[in-house]
Amino acid sequence: MKRMKATVFHGKDQIRVDEVERPVAGVGEAVIRVTLTTICGTDLHILRGEYAVREGLIIGHEPVGVIEELGPGVSGYQIGDRVLVGAITPCGQCSACLSGHLSQCGHGAGYEALGGWRFGNTINGAQAEYLLVPYAQANLAKIPDELSDEQVVLLADIASTGFSGAESAQIKIGDAVVVFAQGPIGLCATAGAKLIGAALVIGVDGDETRLRMARRMGADVVLDYRAGDVVAEVKKITGGGADVAIEALGTQQTFENALRSLRPAGILSSLGVYAGKLQIPYDAFAAGIGDQRIVTTLCPGGKERMRRLMEIVRRGRVDLTPLLTHTFSLEQITEGYQVFGERGDGVLKVAIRP
Ligand SMILES: NC(=O)c1ccc[n+]([C@@H]2O[C@H](COP(=O)([O-])OP(=O)(O)OC[C@H]3O[C@@H](n4cnc5c(N)ncnc54)[C@H](O)[C@@H]3O)[C@@H](O)[C@H]2O)c1
Ligand SMILES: [Zn+2]
Ligand SMILES: [Zn+2]
Repeated sequence: MKRMKATVFHGKDQIRVDEVERPVAGVGEAVIRVTLTTICGTDLHILRGEYAVREGLIIGHEPVGVIEELGPGVSGYQIGDRVLVGAITPCGQCSACLSGHLSQCGHGAGYEALGGWRFGNTINGAQAEYLLVPYAQANLAKIPDELSDEQVVLLADIASTGFSGAESAQIKIGDAVVVFAQGPIGLCATAGAKLIGAALVIGVDGDETRLRMARRMGADVVLDYRAGDVVAEVKKITGGGADVAIEALGTQQTFENALRSLRPAGILSSLGVYAGKLQIPYDAFAAGIGDQRIVTTLCPGGKERMRRLMEIVRRGRVDLTPLLTHTFSLEQITEGYQVFGERGDGVLKVAIRP
């Protein structure tokens, strides 16, 4: 058996780079040699024991790599092809996938909540030298030659997620949009809102560096939530409330601020991962008859989604490389987790190069 280095979860606050068995491609599967990956806020939830995965699991779900091995039944690819694989790997064949709900992939029958999120959740993930890709035919997206690994790595998860916040909200040309939180996900939601055609994008955060980056990603106005009443400010700027509010943190406060910032019949598009109970105060909800809509979205994946996102980058519509603020080798990944987790040194996303 060949061996490889991989980032393994060993329980709360314990991840280590271990020598483990290298995967072998079975029917419909592929193995890629990972050339670039990154750490997600969700990996921090795993590390801190806030999102449960099994001990011994290789974590990470944002892979860019080169095809090393193709299992039987995977066609149209060559060993050595550069590929991007989405964080979500739908099977493409179950009822959920065939109904267009790829992220809630049901593994053959029905739907399963978050079922499309496999890497670093239910199967071994991407913070490793090699990665086994399931349902390879539906999930290997070839990278155009002119795009670098750095230009595409953030498409696997954060851009796909952030943009989906704008897409699920069905933003219309000319809409006023407010995005609560400008972490990597919120910054991509800001960029997505601008791309779709919002006339006004307001970015809310409390971190100076992130508010500056929000402007660079397309925010017309930025608000520091610590500086005053953000909801009142949004209502003032928009003349009565935003058409769309995107929640990109996952807390009661940001959810409620998003809801209160909407005009009647506005849309709240929620991306955050919540813990515990989430409450909807009746006054923020017009007693339940204000015609608001609340939609949630798990990062869209699959090779067609990745192809479309790479086109956006290739055509110069968006550049995500400014978000890659730090680089670490796979051996140094725990240092990467520390910097990313403490949000020190102006960090936004860390590139991990196996
Ligand atoms: N829906 C999905 O598919 C999906 C995918 C990946 C991550 N997520 C979730 O998205 C959320 C955001 O991820 P991230 O990596 O961008 O987070 P992050 O922790 O890097 O950033 C959060 C930001 O929120 C800001 N903030 C804190 N309190 C605030 C407040 N009251 N108002 C406005 N801003 C505030 C912080 O200053 C920070 O910049 C997390 O819950 C993560 O788990 C969801
Ligand atoms: Zn993620
Ligand atoms: Zn499926």
